[in-house]
Amino acid sequence: MSPEVGQILVAVALFLGSDAIRIDTISHGHQSRRSGGTDVFSSPFLAEHRVTNITTQIGTHAYLPCKARQLANKSVSWVRVRDDHILTVDRTVFIADDRFQSFYVEGTGMWTLQLKYVQARDAGIYECQVSTEPKVSARVHLHVVVPRTELDGEPNRYVKAGSKVIIRCVVRGALEPPAYVFWYFGLEQIFTDNRYGWTMQTDSESETHNTIASLIIPSARKRDAGNYTCNPSNSDAVTVLLHVINVEYSASAVKSAASGHGSVQSEIVAIIVAALVHIQT
Ligand SMILES: *[C@@H]1O[C@H](CO)[C@@H](O)[C@H](O)[C@H]1NC(C)=O
Ligand SMILES: *[C@@H]1O[C@H](CO)[C@@H](O)[C@H](O)[C@H]1NC(C)=O
Ligand SMILES: *[C@@H]1O[C@H](CO)[C@@H](O)[C@H](O)[C@H]1NC(C)=O
Repeated sequence: MSPEVGQILVAVALFLGSDAIRIDTISHGHQSRRSGGTDVFSSPFLAEHRVTNITTQIGTHAYLPCKARQLANKSVSWVRVRDDHILTVDRTVFIADDRFQSFYVEGTGMWTLQLKYVQARDAGIYECQVSTEPKVSARVHLHVVVPRTELDGEPNRYVKAGSKVIIRCVVRGALEPPAYVFWYFGLEQIFTDNRYGWTMQTDSESETHNTIASLIIPSARKRDAGNYTCNPSNSDAVTVLLHVINVEYSASAVKSAASGHGSVQSEIVAIIVAALVHIQT
């Protein structure tokens, strides 16, 4: 199998419905010029005169289908509607952006525009045109999903020395979970076999496709204070600054803040305690 055929088979497979790409079709307003004449079966037409919605995730490859039949030797072009830029004519690429490519597999009648490493600005309408007179065309609306990373809790965390700390981040709005989530302490990556006994866990909810990444510090020490960064493969990084407080007095106030879900009030108390500790030392 040639790489090109392999790619198109992947494209067709994706088109037929994976989780990563969502395809919705609706009937298109205007009808084709297939007004009952003798040429109905000899002139080119697009199999489905509809707007197809394709939803894809930033950074992945998008496959825009154009099912053209009875092409004879007519050309099939892909046009970006936003700026009327011709992207491809048959297999020839007409844009100075090597992320675009057009594929056809004999017998399937399917011309597919491949767009690699989709970016947010690629979102919009693409039109597939067959070079007949009058021209026939079909549109594909490409939607680009950009996942976001949220920190669970405040960007400053105050914890008591010796307490168990769980730092969590959530990746939301992704079509597929991140391939990996890296954690950093300062600039240093945290590995699973680290000497501190810290553990990492990543759970994806199949329903929402949200991914929760957790870093577990069994017993926080003073030297564990610092910036912890959660860096998912498909989304922005978020950082939490951990403060480890070494106090015996006012323990109750600190304890409530250290639980991670403390109220704003207890956070403020913790900040005051931290400040007092700072002045004392
Ligand atoms: C396709 O996308 C458009 C624009 O966002 C939307 O109005 C329409 O409802 C979508 N169609 C389907 C079938 O999801
Ligand atoms: C291909 O195109 C040429 C002119 O461009 C035309 O004469 C010929 O009939 C076409 N062939 C088919 C099979 O439609
Ligand atoms: C944590 O990150 C912030 C923002 O980048 C930086 O200003 C601060 O110095 C860092 N603190 C530590 C302890 O690394």
